[in-house]
This record gives sequence, structure tokens and C-alpha cells, in this order.
Amino acid sequence: MRVAAPEGLSTKEAEVYSKLKPELLPRHIAIIMDGNGRWARRRHLPRIAGHRAGVAAVRSTVETAARIHISALTLYAFSAENWKRPGTEVSFLMRLLQHYLREELPTLMRNDIRLDYIGRIHELPQEVQERMHETHAKTAHNTGMTLTLALNYGARVELVDAFSAIARKAARNGGLEHLQFDEAMIAQHLYTSHLPELDLVVRTSGEMRLSNFLLWQAAYAEIFVTEKLWPDFRGVDLLNAILEYQKRERRYGGISDAASASEHRQSLLSLK
Ligand code: FPP
Repeated sequence: MRVAAPEGLSTKEAEVYSKLKPELLPRHIAIIMDGNGRWARRRHLPRIAGHRAGVAAVRSTVETAARIHISALTLYAFSAENWKRPGTEVSFLMRLLQHYLREELPTLMRNDIRLDYIGRIHELPQEVQERMHETHAKTAHNTGMTLTLALNYGARVELVDAFSAIARKAARNGGLEHLQFDEAMIAQHLYTSHLPELDLVVRTSGEMRLSNFLLWQAAYAEIFVTEKLWPDFRGVDLLNAILEYQKRERRYGGISDAASASEHRQSLLSLK
């Protein structure tokens, strides 16, 4: 039986969606939005033109993800290392973010999206933090997708913050001797503790690296890299990434079901 495409998808998107298995959608997708500078350079434009064009890609991707009922989408919007860029580019990105938060509120509300952030938010300019707080508060009661913007985010710093929080808590509760470290306990202290397991990482513009993004969370995620530059990326490209994800076999260090069934048959035969 053919499942009807969710409302709002374009004809192209609906065509890709029809090839997907809705019951196997990734719960949490994270995107490394790369290639804005190259997009601009190819057009002999300043780098900031690439960032500005990147907003249309964000809008399209976010809406499509919400329409197909992805639970969580996390976008790497500004890394802890991005402060090394020229001051003019950094302040443009901060202004662009403020603009995005104001202009996109109707889109977020219409699509029932809750907006959240990860990263060392307190180190961002005060006026940016205020706008972030406002948009977060206005979308807090939405119950559809959680859109998380990673801002001043670095995965190693996230681990430092998690271990520091654990140590502080231990100090308040009688010292380190009683601490029981396990994976779940560390995951509970990460910025993403409230989000589902990360299933898929998408990176645009061809580079094969994680760039200090969600290193702990990506341990078992599938990674999809496209040559497309971020400003050219659209919702249909996200659907194609999900289609590729659904073709992958996730083994989490085990062996495939087919291999396991064949092993089982072999061992039964050898017992005869
Ligand atoms: C990487 O491209 C992109 C960034 C550092 C910024 C990401 C920002 C946006 C996509 C714009 C708006 C987003 C929001 C959420 C408002 P790059 O400049 O490193 O590209 P390059 O590698 O080609 O130089």
C-alpha cells in the first residue's frame, strides 16, 4: 500500500518521499552546513553573500524535516572555532542570526517547531542572547520537531562542560569516591541529553570530517556527505540523504541479520 505524502511537500519532494519507509525515518538528524564561502567565491561575491543565501537552505530544510515529522534536527550554525574568522564576518553572522530568529518565527510556529540551542550560549553577544531567549520562549509550547541551533558549539568543550558538571555535583554530594561513571551518566550531562539518539549526520560541500561536531553523539550515526554547497541544499536533498540512510545497514558493532541467520544455519548443520 502506498502511504500518502505528508502535506506541504513539493512534487519533487513527494516523489523521493514515496521511496522512503516512514517507519524507519531517522529520529535525529544533524547537519554541518558547509560551503557558503565557496558558493559566494564562485559567483565573485563576498563571503557574507554565501551566508545570506544559506538562510534559504535552512528554511527549506527545516520545513521539509518538520513536514515529514523528524523528531529532532540540529544545525551547526556557529562553531567555537568560528571566532577566528575576520571580525566583520563574525558580526555579520551574529546579525544574520538575529534576523533569522525574528523573520523565521512565523515559519517555526506554522510548522509546530520548538527552537532550542546548544553551545556556550552565555559567551555570545548580549543582544543575540536576548533575541534567542525570546524566540525560544515563543516556540517553547510547540510539540512537533525540535530544531536545535549549535552556536559557539564545540564537541570537546561540550565534554569538558559535562565532566565539570559531574565533578561539581560530586563535590556537593560527598566527593568523587562514590561516582559511578557509565555511558548513560555522561550522556545525561551533554547539551543534547533531552534529544533522541543521533541517527544521521549530513555534511555539505564534500569534506569528509566531523569538525568537532557532536563527537560523542555521532558514535553510531550514519554519515552522508554531499558535494552540494550549503546555499544550494534544499528539502529534497535532505530526503535524498534519508533515502541513502535507509539503504545502509546499521550493525552497531554486531553482524548483519543475514550473516547472523546464515551463521545460525551453519552451526545447526555442524551439530547434526
Ligand atoms: C560554513 O561555511 C558556514 C558557516 C560557518 C555558517 C553557517 C551559517 C549559515 C548557514 C547561515 C545562517 C544560518 C542560520 C541558522 C541563521 P563556510 O563559510 O566555512 O564555507 P567555505 O568552507 O566554503 O568557506
